Amino acid sequence: MGSPFDVTPAELRRRTSLKWHTYPEDVLPAFVAEMDVQPLEAVVTAVTKAMRDGDTGYEVGPTSPRGTAYAEAFAQFAARRHGWDVPVERTRMVPDVMLGIVEVVALLTRPGDRVVINPPVYPPFRSFLEHAGRRVVTAPLTPTGRLDLDALDRAFAGASVHLLCHPHNPTGTLHTADELGAVRDLAARHDVRVVADEIHAPLTLGDEPFVPTTTIIPDAIALHSASKAFNLAGLKAALAVPGPAADELRDMPEIVGHGVSHVASIAHQAAYREGDAWLDDVRQTIRAHGDLVAQTLVERLPQARWHRPAATYFAWLDVRETPAVVATGTDPARLLLHEGRLAVNAGPTFGDEGAGHVRLNLATPTPILRDALDRLVTTLAAPV
Ligand SMILES: Cc1ncc(COP(=O)(O)O)c(C=O)c1O
Repeated sequence: MGSPFDVTPAELRRRTSLKWHTYPEDVLPAFVAEMDVQPLEAVVTAVTKAMRDGDTGYEVGPTSPRGTAYAEAFAQFAARRHGWDVPVERTRMVPDVMLGIVEVVALLTRPGDRVVINPPVYPPFRSFLEHAGRRVVTAPLTPTGRLDLDALDRAFAGASVHLLCHPHNPTGTLHTADELGAVRDLAARHDVRVVADEIHAPLTLGDEPFVPTTTIIPDAIALHSASKAFNLAGLKAALAVPGPAADELRDMPEIVGHGVSHVASIAHQAAYREGDAWLDDVRQTIRAHGDLVAQTLVERLPQARWHRPAATYFAWLDVRETPAVVATGTDPARLLLHEGRLAVNAGPTFGDEGAGHVRLNLATPTPILRDALDRLVTTLAAPV
């Protein structure tokens, strides 16, 4: 079997999803969380079978004895990968991670309540919470991308929920058991509940383990999905997993399950059951791509600063001190798009703390990443 990254630019250009369809052909897309990979064969087989069999109806609900197939597949995956004992019967399927977060936050809070986030962070955290009528309070990460416990302590005063991103998008930070323990103690002191978006959990890159939030914070609720790690964003499904002391999922309205796609559930189950080797190939390549970024920046753009991600497939680059940004004062993502014909995610969309940063997607074939890095370095190193 070849690498999941054995895919050509011509094949990628034929894709009609956001990444390869937003910009003209001369722009290289390295934005948005889509991976440039061949699909996992087990998913192709499972979805094809569902289509051939006409198995395209509704997902079975969680109260039915056969309604826990997704949770069972996830639980086996989580036991193998994270040594985590998932309480299958107490989980609830949700249409996707962001809608799951909104539903869980709705169970734990009332409109107008405060929810704490840690910018720079995945932009929909703020927009979905505000759309749901909650007030967003920020406790920014430290400059090294860690949780700032003093800032959390201040932000937790008067707040109801802490929406944690673990692993953290865009920095790739894996919160340690000690950090999660400190969050648990602060949250207990302020009567704050923790909701953890763990969608990137399978994408660890080094020796640091992913520590499931609910194993440290018993009344936390976590959200999982195969959509990031297995590149299935177009087949949306997700799971809310309660900690041993979190009972609220029992009150999840039955209608939430109406938004779950049965075919997506079939696809995710195949990934969870049969995707380990594919996933490990993907992680290995992304790890090597981290080396390539490090080497390129040291050699050709030493003014750029970054911390190697411990998980996710992003490089979060602080390029404030690079010659072109210093000379023009222009947002680097704009410079890269207009001068370098490279599309990255603009740092400020992740919060004010993201000014002068860009997020680069590393989940692409190595020659394409080399092209992206070349465009980035050439544009930002240029004395304007
Ligand atoms: C941290 C995080 N949460 C959620 C999502 C989106 O998940 P879903 O499509 O299941 O809502 C993403 C997508 O990139 C993400 O990075």
